[in-house]
Amino acid sequence: MAIYRIRHCARLSGEVNIHTSKNAVLPILCAGLLTQDTLTIERVPALTDVDTLTAILRECGASVRRDDRCISLGTEEPNSPHSQDLLGRMRASVLVMGPLLARTGYARVALPGGCAIGQRPIDLHIKGMQALGAEVRQTPGSVTLQGRLHGGNVYLDFPSVGATENIVLAAVLAEGRTRIENAAKEPEVVDLCECLTAMGAKIAGEGTSTIFVEGVETLHGCTYQPIPDRIEAGTILCAAAMTEGSVLIRGARPDHMRALLFKLSEAGVNLRESGAGLRLSGRATQPVQVRTLAYPGFPTDMQAPMMACALKMKGTSVFLETIFENRFMHAREMTRLGASVRIEDRIALVNGGGPLAGTNVTSTDLRGGAALILAGLAAQGETILHDPAGHIARGYEDLPGMLRALGADVEELKEEKNVNINRL
Ligand code: EPZ
Repeated sequence: MAIYRIRHCARLSGEVNIHTSKNAVLPILCAGLLTQDTLTIERVPALTDVDTLTAILRECGASVRRDDRCISLGTEEPNSPHSQDLLGRMRASVLVMGPLLARTGYARVALPGGCAIGQRPIDLHIKGMQALGAEVRQTPGSVTLQGRLHGGNVYLDFPSVGATENIVLAAVLAEGRTRIENAAKEPEVVDLCECLTAMGAKIAGEGTSTIFVEGVETLHGCTYQPIPDRIEAGTILCAAAMTEGSVLIRGARPDHMRALLFKLSEAGVNLRESGAGLRLSGRATQPVQVRTLAYPGFPTDMQAPMMACALKMKGTSVFLETIFENRFMHAREMTRLGASVRIEDRIALVNGGGPLAGTNVTSTDLRGGAALILAGLAAQGETILHDPAGHIARGYEDLPGMLRALGADVEELKEEKNVNINRL
C-alpha cells in the first residue's frame, strides 16, 4: 500500500528532467527475447513495471543484467513463462508472445493484467499471429500458439498499440514479408521499430498506418536509448497549468505531444519551445473539449491529468473517452474533493472553478492516481491519496520528487507516518 500526502500549492515553478518512456521501454525489453546477443537499453526508468517485466523475461530464459540505469539482456534458449501471477500484474506481459513464437514456434502465455480501465481483450494480437501462420488454442486464462511463422497480411480493426508491437516483434524473424494495415502510429511503436532496425530488422512505414516487415534470419544486439516519456511530461505540464506555473521541462519531445500542447494553449497557458526545453507559464483558465483518440489524437493516458487541470477552469469542460470503456474511475474520487463531475457513459462533464478541499481519496489506476495527486495540489488543506495496488510507482519514477522540485508539498508517506491517515 502506497500512501501520498499532498498539500495545497498555489504555484509551481522551476525545472525538471523527463525520464525515459515506460511504454517505449517495456516492448523494447521484450525485443531482448529475439536475440542471443546483448541488447543494452540505456536510461531505463526506475519503475515497478520494469521490475515485473524483467522478472517475466528471466522466466522466459533471458539473462538480464541491470547496472544502475542500464539493462542488458539476451536470450540463448527462450521458453514460455510459468508464473501466472507475474503476467497477471501487467498488460505489457503479453508482448512476450510475438518474440517467443518467432524464436521457438511455440508460446503459452497467461492472459495479461494491468490497469482495469476496460475489458482489454487480446483478440487483435491473436488475429495477427494467426495471419503469420500460428495455430491458436485458448483455454480460460491462457492462450497457446504454435507454428513456424511466415509473412502475412494483417488488418487491425483498431490501431492497437500492443497488437501492432506484438505483430512486429513476431514478424521480424518470420520468413517473408508482413504488411500490417491500420497499424498504431504512436511514438512508442516507432521507437520499438527503430530499436529493432538497429538490431538488424528490416522494417518500413513505422509511424504511418501501414508497416512492412521483411523477416530476417537472426537479429544481433545493440545499445539503444528509448524516447522520453510524453505522458510524464504531460502530467507535469498539467500540474503547472493548474497552479499559475512557470516551469521548464527538460528532455521532453514536444513533437510527440502536439494534441496536449494545443489543448493547454486553448485553455490559456503560454508554451514556448527552445533548446533548453519546453517552457510553460500562466494558468489554464478556459474550459476545454477533449476527445481521446489514437495518436496523433489526444492520448487517453492524458485524459485523467487533463481532467484534474479542468477542475480549475471556470465553466464546463467536456471529455469524451473513445479508447477505453472504463477510464473515468478517478472522477468519482475527484468529487470527494468537492469537484463537480458528471459521467454519462463515455462522456464526462466537468464544471470547474469551484472550491476543492483535501480529504482521503483512493487511486484507481496509474494515470487516475497521478491525476488525483494533481487534484490534491489544487485542493485547500491536505489530501491523503491511498494507492493500495501501487499503481503510481508502476509508471512514474518519483512523481512526488518531481513535483517537490517545482515547489509542491507532496510526499509518499513512509510506514511510521501512516498512523494518522484516517484523521481526515
Ligand atoms: C497501450 O496499451 C499503453 N500501454 C496504454 O498505456 C495506453 O493507454 C494504450 O496503449 C492506448 O494508447 C503500454 O504501452 C504498455 P491498445 P494497449 O491495444 O497496447 C482495444 C498507461 O497508463 N483492443 O492500443 O493495451 C482495447 O481494449 C497504459 O501507461 C482490442 O479490442 O492499448 C482498447 O479499447 C494504460 N483488442 C483499445 O483497443 C486487442 O487485441 C486500445 O488498446 C487489443 C486492444
